[in-house]
Amino acid sequence: MERLQKKIANLGYCSRRKAEELISSGKVEVNGEVVRKLGTTVKPGDVITVEGNILDTSREFEYYLLNKPKGVVTTTNDEKGRKTVIDLINTNTRIYPVGRLDYDTTGILILTNDGELANLLMRPDSLVDKTYIAKIEGVITIGNIQKLRKGVIIDGIKTKEAKVKLRSVDKKKNTSIVEITIHEGKNHQIKRMFEVLGYKVIKLRREKYANLDLKGLMPGEYRSLSIKEVKVLYSLCKK
Ligand code: URA
Repeated sequence: MERLQKKIANLGYCSRRKAEELISSGKVEVNGEVVRKLGTTVKPGDVITVEGNILDTSREFEYYLLNKPKGVVTTTNDEKGRKTVIDLINTNTRIYPVGRLDYDTTGILILTNDGELANLLMRPDSLVDKTYIAKIEGVITIGNIQKLRKGVIIDGIKTKEAKVKLRSVDKKKNTSIVEITIHEGKNHQIKRMFEVLGYKVIKLRREKYANLDLKGLMPGEYRSLSIKEVKVLYSLCKK
């Protein structure tokens, strides 16, 4: 049994808040009957219609886009008992994070139980762009921005070409803000790329992931991906 608004949101039709609005305004039917009560629960096999569209309740996977806050680990279970990204998602399904963001990194993280998509996205040769905003100690030089673009050596291997833009520098505070887009996913890749050039990353946020951004999501908030967004993700990583 699951609450109707949660079911509609988890199936990717819209956000839970929007689903509540649709229910209250009489635009949702369960088994042919209009349902306006928000606490209504549905069971497997119920036919749900929203604004005249029959939802595909056979969809077996769940997909979430989380704006990961600081101070949360990207694992399903932490041996030190720290809060994990899974603790932030209200579902009974065993989902897991796609890739990893460091404890102190914020931003986009996908969580799902769709192993095929997760594996495609995490492949070392995945072509999916990930854009990070890094605040670093020091005023970065144009020469070093060029080096980041062309690739730097981490663990004896050169990183692939990256798109790098200098967003701003603060000479008084001795910091720079750099936007960097990569499609690899080595451990701590962004921090290490700056580190080899002598810069310490003091703040890091993943702002874009393939076709997805953080619009409307404060740190700690999440939403389900729509069916269309999932299809685009598949098409991007199968190119
Ligand atoms: N690169 C890093 O260094 N840390 C992250 O969390 C993600 C990418």
